[in-house]
Amino acid sequence: MRSRPPDAAEPYPHEFPAPDVGRRWVAWVARDDVADASVAPRTGRGPIRSSPASSGAGDRASAYHTLWEIALRYDALLDAHADLDIRAIVSLADMLCHLARGHPELSIGMPNLLDMPSLARRHSLHVAAVGILLAREMGLTLEDQHLLACAALTMNPSVHELQDQLSRQGNKPDAASGARLRMHAWHAAETLARLGVRDARWLMAVGQHHENLDGSGYPFGISDPAITLEARILRTADVWCAFLSHRHHRSGRPPRQALRELFRRERGKLDGSTLLALRHGMGYYPPGTVVRLANREVALVTRWFEHHARPDYVVSLLQATGSPMDEHRIRDTSRAEFAIREYAHLPQRIPALDWSGVWAAA
Ligand SMILES: [Fe+2]
Repeated sequence: MRSRPPDAAEPYPHEFPAPDVGRRWVAWVARDDVADASVAPRTGRGPIRSSPASSGAGDRASAYHTLWEIALRYDALLDAHADLDIRAIVSLADMLCHLARGHPELSIGMPNLLDMPSLARRHSLHVAAVGILLAREMGLTLEDQHLLACAALTMNPSVHELQDQLSRQGNKPDAASGARLRMHAWHAAETLARLGVRDARWLMAVGQHHENLDGSGYPFGISDPAITLEARILRTADVWCAFLSHRHHRSGRPPRQALRELFRRERGKLDGSTLLALRHGMGYYPPGTVVRLANREVALVTRWFEHHARPDYVVSLLQATGSPMDEHRIRDTSRAEFAIREYAHLPQRIPALDWSGVWAAA
């Protein structure tokens, strides 16, 4: 059984053939038609946690449906069996950025819970949403946030199917699959360039999204400072989302454990400032976290709270028996019966939950 997803933190073993692409990479980024890739310092921090007070139940239910629309459009785009429609990707990134501005909790808390056929595509959506909010936490511009979303949505399409297959089987990739995985970032960037993307920061973010600061990443094994800021943010978001997500053969890590592992195991590989932004922005109970209460109900964290420790309230999902709640209610976690006991996860086989009702109650 695999203990890690195929597209997670660690590079594939170096015995896989790694063509000498370093020189091609250097030549490619130096091309005249690729814009300046320098990473200028940016200012103006904007914390992730800023839910609009005006957001009502109807707004939140509507936001849930918007996320579904984004997921369905993304699925349809990737199912089209034609060249990726770049303008449609840009439009989807627009929608996601808009959603993340109005409903940041739902934008990062719900993708992992969507019942999408492809876990790999769902993962890309999740990374896009987290990338937007990480960029926001780090004070990057709306344009930068949009670029991160575009990069996340286009970083893996060529290997989504392979990732899903490996996840279903729980197998390690064979040599040929390993080679494909090792090269997918490069191929994705090449494909985007062929399709007309001329934004070097977008291309670099995609091409470098598996590179590590210490040179242990792939496909080029480049290191700090050659890795762009956008690629660092994307890498951190990618690893974080992979840690949290459920796969066919394993449950996602609880957020507290995921953060600890990121800081211990990935230290030196991932960018320190993006890790700090992640910890500060997401905390131990980010929206989307599933918890078990003292009365054995299973509930969902739907907000960030100022003290950043345990949430003040959660929304009930399942009764103590495991059946869905008849009506989703806010549970005050300061009351003994609703105190958070532990992290939990949803069982694989439960009747479909009324997610718009959950978010409307949030
Ligand atoms: Fe990837």
